[in-house]
Amino acid sequence: MKDLLFTRFHQAINDRRAIKHFQPDFKIDPQLLNEVLTMGFRVPTPGGCNPFRILKIEDNTELRTQLREIGFDQPQFTNASTLLFVSIDMNVLASAYSDQDVTDEILRNNAMILGGVFSQAVMLAAAARGLDSCPLIGFKFQPAGELLNKPDHQVITNLVTLGKRAKRPLARGSKIPLDELTVYL
Ligand SMILES: Cc1cc2nc3c(=O)[nH]c(=O)nc-3n(C[C@H](O)[C@H](O)[C@H](O)COP(=O)(O)O)c2cc1C
Repeated sequence: MKDLLFTRFHQAINDRRAIKHFQPDFKIDPQLLNEVLTMGFRVPTPGGCNPFRILKIEDNTELRTQLREIGFDQPQFTNASTLLFVSIDMNVLASAYSDQDVTDEILRNNAMILGGVFSQAVMLAAAARGLDSCPLIGFKFQPAGELLNKPDHQVITNLVTLGKRAKRPLARGSKIPLDELTVYL
């Protein structure tokens, strides 16, 4: 059983690729999307707080087109089934540190880490359920915040797009041996 679980986990990690071209007519079943999002909310957070505010876009074609314009014309803005702008409520995050003296810089770094771990969990859960994804930071953050009516106390960390791949991703780049990437001290 343990081996089977590991094999499935391994497969989800290998199946997840950054997809640039999605099938534009593919719709994600709302229950499946909830399941995938729920996995994202299981990631570790400071003091177990829940600072995530996920801005979800599916059918709003006009907004997608506007986002694509400030997203360097990347096709995922209009062809992915679902756009998830990952944002962190800085008030909630700060409250997890109420007994410590933390700077805004530390809080912001924390927000970025949380956006990353959330996104990876969502993308792996999606891969395990046969969905494709792409993480993106290639967009102008300030105009994106305005288009999304984001309140000032929320910080967008990145976008995760979900859907079904329309084209195969390119082969993975060459791999650097593990011992060159790991420093033993
Ligand atoms: C922080 C971050 C930002 C990224 N931004 C973009 C992006 O704006 N557009 C895009 O197509 N891919 C983006 N990617 C995906 C990478 O290009 C992709 O992960 C990388 O080429 C390796 O491909 P793979 O994930 O399929 O192994 C981003 C990835 C990360 C981690």
